[in-house]
Amino acid sequence: MENIVIEKMNEKDVELSILTEKTHNIHILNENILKEDLKKENYIYLVAKNNGNILGYIGISFVLDSADIISVVVSKEHTNKGIASLLLENVFKVCKEKNITNIILEVRKSNIPAQKLYEKFGFSNISIRKNYYDGIEDAYIYKKEL
Ligand SMILES: CC(C)(COP(=O)(O)OP(=O)(O)OC[C@H]1O[C@@H](n2cnc3c(N)ncnc32)[C@H](O)[C@@H]1OP(=O)(O)O)[C@@H](O)C(=O)NCCC(=O)NCCS
Repeated sequence: MENIVIEKMNEKDVELSILTEKTHNIHILNENILKEDLKKENYIYLVAKNNGNILGYIGISFVLDSADIISVVVSKEHTNKGIASLLLENVFKVCKEKNITNIILEVRKSNIPAQKLYEKFGFSNISIRKNYYDGIEDAYIYKKEL
């Protein structure tokens, strides 16, 4: 897709960013959490925009030289066009600027698309958290050294 720009999320992007989750019937964040996170110095959210529409977003938090990917979501109708890849590449750039040496994230055991995405970008499955999601689904912990 042409004309995709990656920008830092601001408060007016919050509502449309949350809508990208709804296209998958998932609920990772809500508007209040997102608005609070945007005020925090150690959190960064990026959005992928096309003509003002938000196609997807990614969130990361930082502690010392580690970053944690909070979530990456692309509107269902825009998946498989390389948008999550673009968001991740921009996150790597931000991490390098901040001298981050490793990135960690959790992903549902059933979420094969996300696992494939992370593996494509050099993340490895380093451990498992049993029943992490709602006490019923395991989480895989993925890590990438920068
Ligand atoms: C996972 C998700 C973010 C991928 O976004 P996307 O923009 O479609 O990803 P891209 O087009 O950049 O794809 C990059 C790679 O991801 C993997 N991938 C993406 N969708 C896939 C699918 N349906 N099945 C298998 N692998 C998939 C592939 O390795 C792909 O590389 P390839 O095109 O060379 O095969 C998107 O499906 C989504 O928003 N899912 C719901 C939210 C979610 O589960 N987020 C992750 C946990 S927070």
